[in-house]
Amino acid sequence: MFGYRHGFHAGNFADVVKHTLLVLLIEALRRKESPFCILDTHAARGLYDLRGEQAQKRREYEAGIGRLWQRTDLPPPVATYLATIRALNEPHQLRWYPGSPRLARALLRPQDRLIAIERNPQEHQLLKQGFGRDRQVAIHCQDGYQGLKAFLPPKERRGLVLIDPPYELQDEYSQAVAGLLSGWQRWPSGLYALWYPILTEGLRARLFTQLRATALRRVLVVELILQPPSVRNRLNGSGMVLVNPPFGCEQQLAELLPWLQQALAPAGGHSHALQWLIP
Ligand SMILES: C[S@@+](CC[C@H](N)C(=O)[O-])C[C@H]1O[C@@H](n2cnc3c(N)ncnc32)[C@H](O)[C@@H]1O
Repeated sequence: MFGYRHGFHAGNFADVVKHTLLVLLIEALRRKESPFCILDTHAARGLYDLRGEQAQKRREYEAGIGRLWQRTDLPPPVATYLATIRALNEPHQLRWYPGSPRLARALLRPQDRLIAIERNPQEHQLLKQGFGRDRQVAIHCQDGYQGLKAFLPPKERRGLVLIDPPYELQDEYSQAVAGLLSGWQRWPSGLYALWYPILTEGLRARLFTQLRATALRRVLVVELILQPPSVRNRLNGSGMVLVNPPFGCEQQLAELLPWLQQALAPAGGHSHALQWLIP
């Protein structure tokens, strides 16, 4: 039941795309003084040792954060993202990689808060230990989709919901869309980010059909594709469905995506996409 461990994939290209977008969205929220709340429904353990057994097994981080780590020509969200990672590490040594809850926490101001949910008891325990008695962070060991019902809308009425499932089960795309919809129905003006893997063209098309069949509005899709989605059984790209993206974010994404594509896939032959799935 609890098979997936993010430690095997931490810092890979999909994480880099996901986490850079997360930073971009939180930076947009920070433009107003009023408090916001971040709900991370699939938080995992929050911090990864890239020299540890799991990360070393496939060394996926080398083609992810490993490609950005030394760069200095950074667009704004990447600069913030890398500054957060560098703050966790000794100078010029990449060892510790932060997951979404740690990145989000690093960007909270004193008036903001984070709710992080993780269903796996071991991952949850590590996440809890990592935050100690942080008063701005609430951590729950439960089903993230239930959490969407329990914690939305947040009392701040401002914030971001990150839904980042492991997609281990065949119906996880449907479950993720249903979860996104249930959250949005409780809080239609919220900002939502649903991550999805780009595996085959068929799965991707089905996800889009499912999203279009909902009542959701203002749905922007952001993708970085490394191999054509026809390559089976591989993570060919990283995608994010954004609902109610903040003003100005489309322009920022249009500038960010070519930079990320070049940084993560320098050999070329890859693509990125930014499209309003539902205007
Ligand atoms: C892709 S990882 C999350 C990575 C994390 N968001 C990050 O960016 O660092 C997915 C996590 O969701 C957890 N998980 C799986 N199903 C869940 C559910 N229904 N509710 C909450 N967590 C779940 C898994 O144990 C795993 O740790």
